[in-house]
Amino acid sequence: MEKLELLYEGKAKKLYSTDEEDVILAEYMDQATALNGLKKDAISGKGAMNNQITSLIFDKLAENGVPSHFIRKISETEQLIQKVKIIPLEVVVRNVAAGSFSKRLDIKEGTPLSFPIVEFYYKEDRLDDPFINDQHVLVLDIATQEEIDQIKALALKVNEVLKAWFLTLDIQLIDFKIEVGRTKEGKILLADEISPDTCRLWDVHTNDHLDKDIYRRDLGDLVPVYQEVLRRIENN
Ligand code: TMP
Repeated sequence: MEKLELLYEGKAKKLYSTDEEDVILAEYMDQATALNGLKKDAISGKGAMNNQITSLIFDKLAENGVPSHFIRKISETEQLIQKVKIIPLEVVVRNVAAGSFSKRLDIKEGTPLSFPIVEFYYKEDRLDDPFINDQHVLVLDIATQEEIDQIKALALKVNEVLKAWFLTLDIQLIDFKIEVGRTKEGKILLADEISPDTCRLWDVHTNDHLDKDIYRRDLGDLVPVYQEVLRRIENN
């Protein structure tokens, strides 16, 4: 597989075309950002860890019937993915109050929710990714009602599989963000990445943060924390 033209450079990944039309090469970078890019640092080893963690998570999801764009990991920092058109939504699932949910509704972080909820944020840097509802998604022509239903079902299925798996690793899945895309045939696939950058993961016994809140909140060094998540995932 040949790595050809740089198609897109995001905050943590670069995407390249390949000699196969529907296959993209994703390269995970040693970079962390927060506050919509206002805080930014180079963190050596982060790209390789997130490439490995995302690959293992997407494999686990595939085993459990969740379709994603992931094809296979091809090097420390690179993976092949199926080409999709990303739907401009950040789809967040929450099991426990934290982060912006706690702030917006003044609910103490760590308060369990009586059922998992799905939220949509419109992926638009210029607007700072605003919180929107299903009707906004329809009016803005982001997705159809049928797609919204599919996206919610997909998000809840990801939650069900990961929540149960992480619990066996002594990790509580507090919340996470996914992105989804459409194939050229119009099929909805899970896309982007799932890693400690995109999830809140708390140690079951200590409630320690095992995720990017370490970086967002200046709680210490992110590298050993991500290594710990990788160690638990690899041993299972
Ligand atoms: P929030 O509480 O800040 O809304 O975040 C909810 C979850 O989504 C949390 O696990 C972090 C993740 N997330 C991202 O992956 N990217 C983002 O840009 C944001 C805002 C949150």
